[in-house]
Amino acid sequence: MTVLMVGGGGREHALIRKLKESPRVDKVYCAPGNGGISRDAECRNVAACDIDGMVALAKEIRADLVFVAPDDPLAAGMVDAMEANGFRAFGPRANAAVIESSKSFSKDMMKRFGIPTAAYEVFTDADQASDYIRSRGEYPVVIKADGLALGKGVIIAENEADALRAVDDMMRGGAFGESGKKVVVEEYLTGPEVSVLSFTDGKTIVPMISSMDHKRALDGDRGLNTGGMGTVAPNPFYTPEIADQCMEQIFLPTVRAMNELERPFKGCLYFGLMLTEKGPRVIEYNARFGDPETQVVLPLLETPLIDIVEAVVDGRLGEIDVKFSADCCACVVMASGGYPGSYAKGIEITGLDADGQVDGATVYHAGTAYNGDCFRTAGGRVLGVTAKGKTLDEALDSAYAAVKRIHFDGAHYRTDIGRKKFMRS
Ligand code: AMP
Ligand code: GLY
Repeated sequence: MTVLMVGGGGREHALIRKLKESPRVDKVYCAPGNGGISRDAECRNVAACDIDGMVALAKEIRADLVFVAPDDPLAAGMVDAMEANGFRAFGPRANAAVIESSKSFSKDMMKRFGIPTAAYEVFTDADQASDYIRSRGEYPVVIKADGLALGKGVIIAENEADALRAVDDMMRGGAFGESGKKVVVEEYLTGPEVSVLSFTDGKTIVPMISSMDHKRALDGDRGLNTGGMGTVAPNPFYTPEIADQCMEQIFLPTVRAMNELERPFKGCLYFGLMLTEKGPRVIEYNARFGDPETQVVLPLLETPLIDIVEAVVDGRLGEIDVKFSADCCACVVMASGGYPGSYAKGIEITGLDADGQVDGATVYHAGTAYNGDCFRTAGGRVLGVTAKGKTLDEALDSAYAAVKRIHFDGAHYRTDIGRKKFMRS
């Protein structure tokens, strides 16, 4: 099979390496890809959001399967366009990708179908949003841009002044552009966060092994929100009892709700959950594999990924036995100095071999360039250094040992990935 992977980050690198484990996958293209991905796939310079360009590329390479990994092209209808041109594509159509691209849609769906989530109100008028925040008078309060905002459209306001400023920035100031013209004002919840990615063909849903992201830039969950600074799988807080509860109260009801709304979801449905004292609550849905969750979930997958992907596309996921190993996996993200603020690019990376790898770990490249000679930084998140072990500690030790062998000026990583595991007795 010839597969076209759309995207160019660590998640896509992990997907490509997993797909290539199957002998049935003989050629993988990636657009736009990155330096590290170019060691595993033929990269083509088509932007991930360029639907016409991507359809033309799929035709040129005669793709047997197109895998649309990022949120923007899914929301813009790239899967619909591929299908209209006769290609088999993995990912939801635009009418189902809305579960991620509109928070007001997903919140209203959860309310209507009784899926547990934080209490909320939706506003398109800044004065009304501000009045509501003042009259509610409880802090922290959570303010979310309705649309896609690179994971940055969520403000947790500690007091009235910060909350009103967030509303002002989003609704009057144009922060996040159109995505912030509508906002969701939400109850603040506390508890451990869990990411659960799942495969679904719209009939069957198969949760993958659970994981935990670390969104803040600095140790101790301090600093700004990022795309994710590291992950571990499985998530130590996600017990089998909680998993059963989530299946009954959240996963199955979500699939049914999307069908009832005539928006059947096919692809990877991501549940961002918070385990509150009152039970699990949905914090967000994503219509795709998470990044960097994918980097720790896929190494533990034992069933060939291509078999599952084809079963999802063909609507026969119920026939497949999806197996995960009992091991643990950890991913430590090495980021450019300054990220998630501004940072330099083009800095030489040392310690990697010619394939962009290092002994004792797998290195998923998120933002690198390769000139045939050396790898250089090309993004905020640069590398996801990933290792497996019989225990989480073993996996973390291997990942951090590998991190120490890789260098670039200004490199920043968190030293406490996976350390929250003893918080809950
Ligand atoms: P989201 O993009 O919706 O996942 O939000 C980003 C992060 O903000 C989440 O991972 C949570 O840490 C935090 N967050 C979002 N909604 C809430 C909430 N209702 N209560 C507390 N924290 C939240
Ligand atoms: N790691 C969270 C996300 O992919 O949105």
